[in-house]
Amino acid sequence: MVGLVFAFGPLAHAADPPPRGLTIARTNACMGCHAVDRKLVGPSFQQVAEKYKGNAGASAFLAKKVKDGGSGVWGAIPMPAHPAMSDADIRTVVDWVLVGAPSK
Ligand code: HEC
Repeated sequence: MVGLVFAFGPLAHAADPPPRGLTIARTNACMGCHAVDRKLVGPSFQQVAEKYKGNAGASAFLAKKVKDGGSGVWGAIPMPAHPAMSDADIRTVVDWVLVGAPSK
């Protein structure tokens, strides 16, 4: 996954580091299945933000979903579990998704 960081690195402005959530999404291969603004294998992160807007339990629910994986919310394709990610990293990336996955 280190390759991904280097591949995307030049797009980021040196003096303007990307949000931590975006970095986590890139280094954990989330972007292999998700894009910010269009559906890939999984829903776009903007779709996810829209769906859970105003849902106070969304952060905890989605953190568990990323950790354990699952299907049935957006379609039949399952998201794999991410057992190796720390809870802190998962919460950070989920909270970044929930605010609409900003690039800065
Ligand atoms: C192998 C492909 C794949 C990878 C890798 C992947 N996802 Fe997903 N993701 C999916 C699919 C497919 C769904 C839709 C699941 C469903 O319909 O319940 C999904 C759904 C989601 C949702 C919405 C869940 C819901 O119940 O509404 C979030 C948030 C999410 N992914 C975040 C992430 C994050 C963060 C990562 C990286 C740690 C990640 N995904 C990695 C395929 C993937």
